[in-house]
Amino acid sequence: MARTIDPGTREAVLERIRFYRDLGLTEFYRRPVDASMHHVLPDLSASEPDVSNTPGLASETGEFIPQRDSQEDPPIPPRKPISIPPKIASVVPSADRASALQLIRDEIGDCTRCALHSGRNKLVFGDGSPSARLMFVGEGPGADEDAQGLPFVGKAGQLLNNMIAAMGLKREEVYIANVVKCRPPGNRTPEPDEANTCTPFLFRQIDVVRPQVLVALGATAATYLLGQRQPLAGLRGRVHAFRGMHLIVTYHPAYLLRDPRQKKEAWADLQIAMRELGLKSPAKA
Ligand code: URA
Repeated sequence: MARTIDPGTREAVLERIRFYRDLGLTEFYRRPVDASMHHVLPDLSASEPDVSNTPGLASETGEFIPQRDSQEDPPIPPRKPISIPPKIASVVPSADRASALQLIRDEIGDCTRCALHSGRNKLVFGDGSPSARLMFVGEGPGADEDAQGLPFVGKAGQLLNNMIAAMGLKREEVYIANVVKCRPPGNRTPEPDEANTCTPFLFRQIDVVRPQVLVALGATAATYLLGQRQPLAGLRGRVHAFRGMHLIVTYHPAYLLRDPRQKKEAWADLQIAMRELGLKSPAKA
């Protein structure tokens, strides 16, 4: 028989479900769900069970049946999709890469394709060697980048420069870009529609530069490059196949500034990148 649960328990359950959903787990119920629950826990995939007619959200024992009895709980918004990456483009000869990147930049133009354009000072396209063997992808420009039109030139950029130097490389030797090219207000995470609007250009930049190794800096870059939401912990520490290249996921430098204890972990990730590139640690070189 259906019975209500107290608001604290309800919130705890919803929080747990959000957590599982962020892990990519969406199939929670062995039995169909009451349609009245549908606005609380919306369908996340087309393959979920038919929920049209079943009374209550029954557990296996039939005991626990949370009911939405008022409007006080805002519905959990459905997960917004991540767009499918475009087909891999053909190889651009090294000598043509700078002009191929310029063509992409020209096509972006004075972009108004998403809402981020309205707060933009300068669009941050990307920077570095068009033939880089190593490319970094961040989340989006911050205030300094927005002012200068270049990626990673603020505090996080200084740390990224140090990371690049520790790998035995110069910043000019790598290529750096972001998931979105315009600064999100207050440095918030880009919304999926903003990221999905911008990433086709990023994919084209990646295909032109065609680095041997791509490093995703933080969860947003990893999400939109790999096309799936997963906690960073599950993505770090290994090599992902990506458009014929090798992708490594590590912490965002801004996160490392907030929690420097994780620098050791980030260095371990960068050493994977170095191994892929055949680079020796400067100390050992
Ligand atoms: N953070 C990013 O993700 N990108 C930048 O360019 C600067 C800070």
